Amino acid sequence: MILQADLRHLICTLSDALDLVGVDDVGHGKRVGVMAAECGRRAGLAPEEVTFLFDLGMLHDIGVSSTQVHHNIITTFSAPDAQAHCDTGAALLASFRPLAALAPAVKRHHTPWTRLVEEDTDPALAWQANLLFLVDRVDALAVTLAAKGSALLHAPAIRERIRQHAGTDFNPELVDLFLETSASEAFWLMLEPRPMTDFIQEVHSQRLGYSASMGDLRQLAEIFSRIVDAKSPFTAEHSLGVAELARFLARKAGLGEASQRQLEIAGLLHDVGKLRVPDQILDKPGQLDWQERQVINTHSFETYQILRHLHGFEEIAQWTAHHHEAPGGSGYPFRLDASLLPLEARILRIADIFQAMVQDRPYRKGLNQAQAQTFMADLAARGLAEPELVAHLVSCGDEAMAAAHAGLRREPT
Ligand SMILES: [Fe+2]
Ligand SMILES: [Fe+2]
Ligand SMILES: [Fe+2]
Repeated sequence: MILQADLRHLICTLSDALDLVGVDDVGHGKRVGVMAAECGRRAGLAPEEVTFLFDLGMLHDIGVSSTQVHHNIITTFSAPDAQAHCDTGAALLASFRPLAALAPAVKRHHTPWTRLVEEDTDPALAWQANLLFLVDRVDALAVTLAAKGSALLHAPAIRERIRQHAGTDFNPELVDLFLETSASEAFWLMLEPRPMTDFIQEVHSQRLGYSASMGDLRQLAEIFSRIVDAKSPFTAEHSLGVAELARFLARKAGLGEASQRQLEIAGLLHDVGKLRVPDQILDKPGQLDWQERQVINTHSFETYQILRHLHGFEEIAQWTAHHHEAPGGSGYPFRLDASLLPLEARILRIADIFQAMVQDRPYRKGLNQAQAQTFMADLAARGLAEPELVAHLVSCGDEAMAAAHAGLRREPT
């Protein structure tokens, strides 16, 4: 089977995943995209340039995995350590050819206008990056002032704050453009969830005419995995390890090359929903209480929500949705009997358990090879893991351990 997905759908899916980092406020990237596009339209840009600004907005925070970092850059107008996520984001985008054009502006989306001028930045790039900075700060102010209320009520205060930064943080011409564009009530009302969904659907309906190849999808999934794995030092190599293990088990179970590659992609993507789990829960150095456990347990359902509408990813979405289901229906979130699930979903589950057991976690050291094999054999003996899959982890122990620790050999972003 050949996976085919339109790049436009992939960008929207990636943006959905990134917006999860806002936890309770999940529209930051999209609102920034809508505002940048509206300003671009007002400036008379061509439709493809407006769409480029929209994409920039949707993906500008691709370097943010941590809910704490997200909180800092939203609540502080001039966050002193903001450049790190710009550099990470630009490196991630540059690593994927179809999105590489977005990297330069993302790298400079917290750079003050005066510095862009000093550094003699290319005028077109300086314009894009500074517009992105401006509307990003508008949303930061709107989120802080309006909390869950309407930004419209705070429009005069937000417009005044932006005006005060003309000639320092922002290009005075861009400030004028923003003030003209945001003079209407409609500009602010469009940022509410319902109209924003419509706006995005309109953009979504334009296909880019670029169908991603299997190699592109592997690369894009790798980007997702880096974002998720960067969230916590304890899961730094988890997704890549699960991907390699899933591919290894698929090969041992006799699945064909296409299924092996699909499972590898599923492994890279399976924990995307964890982006919505607050850092302090993932990094807690002790047992989680019931409430914290409920929050963590939402993640496989969130992954499913993100991937299920992506054309070509229907099977991958199902397998990732089920990676915490267990035999007898004792897992989550659907409480399905895992022994009745397709082999691919069961492989992903076993790969996930094995990788997690050999990795250090905040509350315990990772198991060594012999301990991990004993652990898995015990699960199989209790009917909680498929004996035939566990047998591969035991008979090819070195290979399984090398796959589980594949992340150690990964180049940093
Ligand atoms: Fe942002
Ligand atoms: Fe998981
Ligand atoms: Fe996992």
